[in-house]
Amino acid sequence: MFYSEEIIEEVRSRNPIVDVIGSYVHLTKKGGGYFGLCPFHNEKTGSFSVSPSRRTYQCFGCGKGGNVITFIMDYENCTFPEALQFLAERGGVELPKQEFTAAQRQEADRRSRLLAMYREAAFFYVRMLRSPQGKIGYDYLKKRGLSDETIRNFGLGYALQSPNALYRYLKEKEYTDAELKESGFFTYRERGVTDKFWNRVMFPIMDTNNRVIGFGGRVMGDGEPKYLNSPETMIFDKSRNLYGLNAAKRSRERFLLVCEGYMDVISMHQAGFTNAVASLGTAFTVQHGMILKRYTEEVVLCYDHDNAGKKAALRAIPILKEAGLRIKVLDLAPYKDPDEFIKALGADAFRARVESAVNAFLFEIACLRETYDFTDPDDKTRFFTETASKLAAFMDEIERNAYTESVAAAYGIDYGVLKARVSEIGNRQGLMQAPEETRKPAASGFPGQKKETGLQKAERMILTDLSGSPEHFQAIRRVLSPSDFSTPLLQDVAACLYDQLERNALNAALLIDRFIDNEQYGEVTSLLSSVFMEDAEEEERKQALREAVLRVKADSLERKAAAAQDPGTLMELMKQKQDLRNLPVF
Ligand code: GTP
Ligand code: MN
Repeated sequence: MFYSEEIIEEVRSRNPIVDVIGSYVHLTKKGGGYFGLCPFHNEKTGSFSVSPSRRTYQCFGCGKGGNVITFIMDYENCTFPEALQFLAERGGVELPKQEFTAAQRQEADRRSRLLAMYREAAFFYVRMLRSPQGKIGYDYLKKRGLSDETIRNFGLGYALQSPNALYRYLKEKEYTDAELKESGFFTYRERGVTDKFWNRVMFPIMDTNNRVIGFGGRVMGDGEPKYLNSPETMIFDKSRNLYGLNAAKRSRERFLLVCEGYMDVISMHQAGFTNAVASLGTAFTVQHGMILKRYTEEVVLCYDHDNAGKKAALRAIPILKEAGLRIKVLDLAPYKDPDEFIKALGADAFRARVESAVNAFLFEIACLRETYDFTDPDDKTRFFTETASKLAAFMDEIERNAYTESVAAAYGIDYGVLKARVSEIGNRQGLMQAPEETRKPAASGFPGQKKETGLQKAERMILTDLSGSPEHFQAIRRVLSPSDFSTPLLQDVAACLYDQLERNALNAALLIDRFIDNEQYGEVTSLLSSVFMEDAEEEERKQALREAVLRVKADSLERKAAAAQDPGTLMELMKQKQDLRNLPVF
């Protein structure tokens, strides 16, 4: 982050959170806060709250939360600097030219030189495709059914049958040897430098800002490897990029199509499915899931119709689920991939397949079904038991019953019998929640929301309270230090809060900025944005806090005791734990 805290604060203070969010969401005042329908998920009752005093927002349904800047990032799908720019303009703040340290400047320079080199290479490959020596590449693409417009839109090119055409070209552009080496385009041997891409059609890989960050190259006809990808560099992280997302993010569809290959993406776009992206043969990562979630709520998997494709889908489903996406799986049979399907049956048939794509859960059950032999009664029973236990894992009763119904219908089982088995397993495994738990909004079936333990609840209560009620700080710090919290993340958040409180500069909105790049960002925002027992009397709140503080301290002492090396320390810790009972706190 290149902007100073002061300027970020200035932007924030000129953009009151209720005004900004109020221009996107209809907010109603209630007590000290504002409430409305969450703009990040579909809901009918308002679980979205904005706190003007903390300058934060939080949705108790889907868990999204943060400050005015992250709201813009989430709502407009943009980066931190972009959101800051947007709000600066809105609030009439002039942002200084980016402030770099020398090291940051150097890193930014290296990065922009590399980006420029990749751009240069992309142009070179495009020109070669149009040259007489590139005709073989151009003919290949035409033979695969691509129009000139598609070839142009995707910036497709050709790497010549020459040992080092790109090297000579870039050398002339006065890139240094260190830079050329870093690009990953070349092989360095004693005999000299050669291009890695040779006689291949070239697919530039772009980031979401349309900058070329990598290439895939396909051999003409048969040959190994079929596709060669440029290596990871400081501008290319394979686990964070999806091919075609730069174009797909502009499509207005409410879902994204995720497939395996370059040609699949291109064929789909050409056929009008401009919401297609590919994970490019690499395993689907958690980061891919999180990136997709920035752009959509639903993903339709169009992986190849073969064993590898099925396996890849089964692997991607839990990751996508964890990212909070709805997932469907498209059946391409009898064709191998979207490219072949569209070529054979056309866009309308493909659209029909998209519309009839099955929900990922039913796909998983169908895959499971294939591993059992239904002519064997034992096997059949095992399949039903396993299916029932998967059904029992649905926390939401309505959802659970709906799936139970579909499965019963699909596999010819009596609904009542299957339902009884599901509840039986649920009760036995303790997977079903107690009735009063299911009524809480947090149990609305959003993935990634795990049940809290008593300790977690207590820790969350304390940090949430501190971030809104500085007057409790002195009492709490007498008992608890940041190291008493049970996880590194909470210790971090506590340390930052303590630091602000000590300086008399509590600022939850600013704290949120610090954790934007943290994987557990959602957890941090919910700690800092929730409203803690807002309607309760001060005495009641203090009582709850007192219990939470003692609970956290007791747990911390126990952890320390368990790790204690000598009897002296152990005795001391046990004594401290006993003394806790009489500790006043407030
Ligand atoms: P076409 O034959 O050109 O239609 O390719 P395809 O997309 O049908 O290829 P396939 O299903 O074999 O592979 C899907 C994706 O995996 C490709 O688009 C590549 O991104 C990647 N891939 C395929 N083969 C290789 C390979 O040999 N090496 C690497 N690194 N990636 C590959
Ligand atoms: Mn193919």
